[in-house]
Amino acid sequence: MCGIVGYIGQKNTKEILLEGLKELEYRGYDSAGIAVLSDGVFSSFKATGKLINLEEKTKDFTTDKFAVGIGHTRWATHGKPTELNAHPHVGENSYIVHNGIIENYAELKKALIDDGVTFLSQTDTEVIVHQFEKNLKDADDAFSAFKKTIAELEGAYAVLLVTKAENNKIFFAKHGSPMLVGINAQDEKYFASSDTPLIGHCTDVNYFEDGDYGYVSHGDILIFNKNNQQKQPHFVKLSANKLSAQKDGYCFFMEKEIYEQSNIIADTLLGRVTEKEIIFEELDTKLFEGINEIKLCACGTSYHAALTASYIFERYSKIKTSVEIASEFRYREPIMTKDTLFVAISQSGETADTLETLKMAKEASLKTLVICNVDNSSMVRLADATILMRAGVEKGVASTKAFATQVTVFWMLSLYLAKLKNSLTQEEIVHQLELLRAIPTSVKVENSMHERIKRLSKRYLHGHGFFFIGRDIFFPLALEGALKLKEISYLHAEGYPSGEMKHGPIALADPELFTIALLPEHLLYEKSKSNIEELSARDSTICAISPIAFEKADDFIQTKKQKDYMLEFFEIMVVVQLLSFEISMRLGNDVDMPRNLAKSVTVE
Ligand code: F6R
Repeated sequence: MCGIVGYIGQKNTKEILLEGLKELEYRGYDSAGIAVLSDGVFSSFKATGKLINLEEKTKDFTTDKFAVGIGHTRWATHGKPTELNAHPHVGENSYIVHNGIIENYAELKKALIDDGVTFLSQTDTEVIVHQFEKNLKDADDAFSAFKKTIAELEGAYAVLLVTKAENNKIFFAKHGSPMLVGINAQDEKYFASSDTPLIGHCTDVNYFEDGDYGYVSHGDILIFNKNNQQKQPHFVKLSANKLSAQKDGYCFFMEKEIYEQSNIIADTLLGRVTEKEIIFEELDTKLFEGINEIKLCACGTSYHAALTASYIFERYSKIKTSVEIASEFRYREPIMTKDTLFVAISQSGETADTLETLKMAKEASLKTLVICNVDNSSMVRLADATILMRAGVEKGVASTKAFATQVTVFWMLSLYLAKLKNSLTQEEIVHQLELLRAIPTSVKVENSMHERIKRLSKRYLHGHGFFFIGRDIFFPLALEGALKLKEISYLHAEGYPSGEMKHGPIALADPELFTIALLPEHLLYEKSKSNIEELSARDSTICAISPIAFEKADDFIQTKKQKDYMLEFFEIMVVVQLLSFEISMRLGNDVDMPRNLAKSVTVE
């Protein structure tokens, strides 16, 4: 998804902007650009594809004195990923970068064209810079023109604008898309759409609120709120820890992230699992008072984690639980009652659809909880309570360790609630706590297992489709396995409940239909086995993943004997992640940045 950076200071502005964009690369993008204003002269560069193309274009350009600069990585929404559509967009004397969508751009554009303005791109963004220049003609100063322009926009945006009219300032506005400004002892100012580009450069940051706008110059930070009242920046310390993970010898971040799940989950559990109970210091038990139902809401992989949670919340915590896809929930006029705890699940905390449902829940006066990986993200700032997943920065676009930590948090939460609601005996809780502590071992990648999957993967590079099938919590895992494969291999895959295949999809069964059968020992083994046999009888090619040898399968990936189906879930999760990874590797795809995908989906 799009990323923004900005800089005011004396250093090599180009380097700082490119370095910042590099930190945002993992979010997914299809073009990039920068604009630098120094001594009243603009230099602007854009390139499609990877940042290396932009680096190449800017190799002879440097700034070694005071300059203001803005940069952007674009993930196309309005108009194709071409150089003309890449940001920054130019007017007569100004440049702009923008994240989000301007909903009334068509009417603004029409009026500007009627006034004789020529547009170079197909983007919604370009209207902002022309509208600003139109307003500038009648305004006392650039800030008044900027303020008027922002008031005319509808939609979601984070915007940075630089103009020759006041060549030492960056004008900013934020409404619905994240943005922050950072400072340091050298009096430099950095902007970005997330923390990472600022780490190592800034000591303190101010996260803009929706409706904030203003400007930053070398000496000043002027912020106004949505009611046009000036407000003081609210600075918080920025971690000095350079989170930008390296690949540590792995070919792709996704592989590294699969391997590090064992350590990461140990972090998620740290301090939260005692001998007797689950402790969430971040939660007040009052949050659960008067609650009779939990509603989980999320997108994509986070939705699959939520589906998994719905089984264990009802099973262990004995609390009615429903799950919603955020983009559907938004517009279906749902009935929300105050005895429902609304739980949003999001790795990034910025996904537009999920964020919007959280706002809806707040408006309906529901109590809200967020399960999130990014502290200070929009969702974390909005919710009544947060449980952080502690997965560290996830760089692979295809989510792996985030899913693993989400399910871990949900398992812990189900036991926390079981204790509150007395739905499990103390003995049962103690047993579950023991199992929880075994997750890090269950997700350790054994060399032999990885080698087996690598070898098998060569048989699964074609076919007319994959069905990942499972029952109970292995159904959401099947959905997740299919999503992983689709995302990075571009092969068609579906996740399906094993028992549902006979109600239609079994018609597709033939040797070119690949069934990836999730067959745990400790949950509905016989039932699942019969469903797989039905497919085997119709000649579907079966790859079974199970601790128990299964002679009807064409291929078999043997998992370890585990004490409980939850631990089998985590081990089989690693197997399906690795299977997708190996298939994608063999197909020669860019595993970490699959085509058309973005890491953080901040548009609806
Ligand atoms: C899939 C994937 C996406 C995200 C989805 C929600 O690998 O990463 O499906 O899970 O876009 O993102 P978050 O969790 O950040 O809200």
